[in-house]
Amino acid sequence: MSKVIVMDHPLIKHKLTFIRDKNTGPKEFRELVKEVATLMAYEVTRELPLEEIEIETPLVKTKSQVIAGKKLGLVPILRAGLGMVEGMLDLLPAAKVGHIGLYRDPETLQPVEYFCKLPYDAVERELILLDPMLATGGSAKAAIDFLKKRGIEHIKLVCLIAAPEGIKVINDAHPDVDIYVGEVDEKLNDHAYIVPGLGDAGDRLFGTK
Ligand code: URA
Repeated sequence: MSKVIVMDHPLIKHKLTFIRDKNTGPKEFRELVKEVATLMAYEVTRELPLEEIEIETPLVKTKSQVIAGKKLGLVPILRAGLGMVEGMLDLLPAAKVGHIGLYRDPETLQPVEYFCKLPYDAVERELILLDPMLATGGSAKAAIDFLKKRGIEHIKLVCLIAAPEGIKVINDAHPDVDIYVGEVDEKLNDHAYIVPGLGDAGDRLFGTK
């Protein structure tokens, strides 16, 4: 079963309040999303394995810990996921960044991949999938399907806000994928927007509305 890790840190809660506020313009919205993504990078890496190496301080030789295990990759789902990349890279500068773009086929209503460019060594990495709004879960589920088809096994999903419906979709389809989220909201409305939510994350990031 997917673990749902709600990152209820006061700084994340505070910033999410202003991200949600409809009077927050694109510049401030982008800055806040970036800052929250940095805080989320801290939480999503909390369980990374460590190993001891030997170093020499100015005083003595000693053993000290460094990150071990798989390297990381970030995969924003286009386009709203882009808003979280820079903030994550501030803490994880060695992570490589792939991109995945999906659209919904108007007839079948199924997500179709229109763009996917991943690091050449993606299968050896732990991938952090970035999707600010986990609403119906359709895009995130499809993105995880596409990543797994390419042989990628270690995936975490990071969202600013999730609806219970989206969490269930991921949990049912991909119980091995843990979900890191700033807040879980009440529900989806009839247009598949998260309520109370923040509106359309892509439009608010890029000022397209
Ligand atoms: N995508 C968004 O940007 N906002 C929602 O509320 C749902 C999906």
